[in-house]
Amino acid sequence: MSSSSSLLLLLFLLSLSGVKPTSGFKICAFNVQSFGDSKSHNTEVMRTIIRIVSRCDVCLLQEVRDSKQKAIPVFLFSLRHNSQNQYDYVASERLGRTPSYQEQYVFVFRIGSVTVTDQYQYLDMLRGDEDAFSREPFIVRLHTRKTAIRDFVLVPQHTTPTNATKEIDALYDVFLDVKKKWKTEMVMFLGDFNADCGYVAKKNWQHVRLYSNQAFVWLIGDAEDTTVRETTTCAYDRIVVHGEAFAKAIVPQSAQPFNFPKEYGLTEEQALDVSDHYPVEVELKAGSEHLGGHTLLIVLMAFFIST
Ligand SMILES: *[C@@H]1O[C@H](CO)[C@@H](O)[C@H](O)[C@H]1NC(C)=O
Repeated sequence: MSSSSSLLLLLFLLSLSGVKPTSGFKICAFNVQSFGDSKSHNTEVMRTIIRIVSRCDVCLLQEVRDSKQKAIPVFLFSLRHNSQNQYDYVASERLGRTPSYQEQYVFVFRIGSVTVTDQYQYLDMLRGDEDAFSREPFIVRLHTRKTAIRDFVLVPQHTTPTNATKEIDALYDVFLDVKKKWKTEMVMFLGDFNADCGYVAKKNWQHVRLYSNQAFVWLIGDAEDTTVRETTTCAYDRIVVHGEAFAKAIVPQSAQPFNFPKEYGLTEEQALDVSDHYPVEVELKAGSEHLGGHTLLIVLMAFFIST
């Protein structure tokens, strides 16, 4: 083989082997404050929510109060028509202690970048404390080829402010349940935990197992501000991962509140029409699309150098 045709073949094989790392993978959680009929008919609000969700490979929406069950389909329709990517979603049942106040957890995800391989509704009565949560986690298991870790679990939680301490603590029981059920410890907890500003007293953090147990890494720290109002500085919304393997798969410094008013040039009033919370987000490190891409490259190089 001539050296020029060898080179061409090498370039061709390289393009097939896909050694180019893919871009990062963004996970978001957004409390869209009472998202239902009225917000879904507000064009400006919808435009902003679509911009926010479009940034994410998977986005947990909380405080979806869609009693007519129309707002989420309307949102997905608009999202699909106003984005480069295709999206799908999975949603929990309507959850809450009383029939008059119910919320849903909704995971919106980018088709082609991630798939939901399993899901279940956690029921805390199975664990002997039938009152742990107001809105028990609707848990999803995801698979993606875009990240270094390909399979992991997301546990959503929107706590009731006055019971925040107890509910965050009970997420530890959820972890044990997921571990038992799916034989995995790759678990991320995310959502509006109300984990600040008087809802969790400083002295009580030591009793919160999700916090005191060193195996859990809190990616959004206590000093962050996840609230839109300029008069408040509270780290209500959090992202927590279990285990060193998961923590190592996180892009350093990527976990943060997303200050969408600043980013999109909105006044506080305009932003509050969307939500009183910032979304929180984190990026996972990219993996090579194809298993063993780098190994293949090295073998090919060795081969061509030797010929
Ligand atoms: C707080 O939790 C208790 C059970 O421990 C429950 O009875 C009560 O309704 C909860 N409070 C709210 C506001 O949901």
